[in-house]
Amino acid sequence: MVRSTANGDAVFCRDLVKTYGKGDTRVVALNGVNLDVHPGELLMLVGPSGCGKTTLLCVVAGILNRDSGQCSVFGRDFRSMGRRERSRYRGENIGFVFQSFNLIPTLSAAENVAIPLILNGVARREALRRADALLEKVGLGRRQRDLPSRLSGGQQQRVAIARAMIHNPRLIVCDEPTSALDHETGHHVMELLREVAVGPDRALVIVTHDARIFGFADRIAQMDDGRIVRVVNSPAEMSS
Ligand SMILES: Nc1ncnc2c1ncn2[C@@H]1O[C@H](COP(=O)(O)OP(=O)(O)OP(=O)(O)O)[C@@H](O)[C@H]1O
Ligand SMILES: [Mg+2]
Repeated sequence: MVRSTANGDAVFCRDLVKTYGKGDTRVVALNGVNLDVHPGELLMLVGPSGCGKTTLLCVVAGILNRDSGQCSVFGRDFRSMGRRERSRYRGENIGFVFQSFNLIPTLSAAENVAIPLILNGVARREALRRADALLEKVGLGRRQRDLPSRLSGGQQQRVAIARAMIHNPRLIVCDEPTSALDHETGHHVMELLREVAVGPDRALVIVTHDARIFGFADRIAQMDDGRIVRVVNSPAEMSS
């Protein structure tokens, strides 16, 4: 198990900087991000296209390295870990729903969902049994054996969400998790995510443009041009 920080944050970012490319093609995607996500919190992250939301999720989840600044998840900094420890920590503690789903095309829906469990040492049969049950919960009870190419965008998105939560990670980060879902399905998926991810030693960070799900947030962080410019407690405060 992981230890907690002195400050006890689920996610802690200070002066976080991330650039892509060099010279003329250099892009500053994160330009001094300060953000805390508290244990038990569902934080939504909003902001215009290109402002750095996906980049921030990737740095927080240890998929991308930062250039400078501080970043830790439940008190652990990926920079302090070796490659193997890092991937083990990520595999046990973080679930990621990618904007483009990133399902493995040659694996069935259930096999995709079972991956985190198998990587964490759960026997394949048991992992598939749990994947089947979770797919049932997200309304894909009859599609477990289908390849992603046989599924609609919204169905693929639910497979990606199931994959991010199956191993009960402490932190789930979701990049536009309801973009392909109708209102009712989106609502149901949010209820499920909330149930699984929000506990005293857990947290959920969701990038979204979907105003229909803002009501699920404990706080909403607004991002612009590589920075967090404002954090509000309710959707009503966003326009004020
Ligand atoms: N791999 C990359 N190489 C170079 N530049 C990149 C790369 N990924 C992102 N960028 C640039 O970094 C900036 C932030 O991109 P990012 O994908 O984080 O934005 P975003 O807020 O998630 O946008 P969207 O809402 O469209 O998904 C953009 O200017 C983008 O062009
Ligand atoms: Mg993005």
